Amino acid sequence: MNRTLLTAVLLTLTAVAVSAEPTPESIVAYRKVNMDAYGKHMKAIGMVVKGEVERPAWAAADADALAAMAKHLGQLFPAGTGPDNKSIKTEAKADIWSKPADFAAAVKSFQVETAKLAELSHGTDFEAFKAQLPKVGKSCGACHDGFKVED
Ligand code: HEC
Repeated sequence: MNRTLLTAVLLTLTAVAVSAEPTPESIVAYRKVNMDAYGKHMKAIGMVVKGEVERPAWAAADADALAAMAKHLGQLFPAGTGPDNKSIKTEAKADIWSKPADFAAAVKSFQVETAKLAELSHGTDFEAFKAQLPKVGKSCGACHDGFKVED
């Protein structure tokens, strides 16, 4: 590819990336995919913890992913992506926006517990790592109890 053409292609890609503001629909779709991924990572770690797959190092990758994804969890719920927006399908409760401090605390708790899990996943105390997994699970459940419509 010659230089001019390459520059043109790069400029086009940049323009697309910059102009694509996420819509409420795309954000809700993205956060559901993130939540599904949380579930898969938890399941994968569970398989290691239960000894179905004796590869503790693999669980570290899942634990790192959970901790990394938890960092932007709070940003997945901007105004206009709740039940008051009739053009989207969401199980997010209005309380997320009417009780922002409580929701922020639930997000923080998940960030703290997943960070601990990730840290322990790189250590040598496998029992401590195992014991941390249900604590992460509880922080998922606590947020769902308060802020997600029951299935
Ligand atoms: C701080 C709050 C919070 C935490 C922490 C949280 N969730 Fe969620 N979760 C939600 C909300 C709110 C929804 C509904 C999202 C929607 O429908 O827009 C949801 C939806 C889901 C869904 C359904 C996704 C879909 O496809 O509709 C799954 C699965 C899920 N969460 C799993 C988890 C797991 C597993 C964890 C922990 C590892 C977790 N969540 C942690 C708030 C949370």
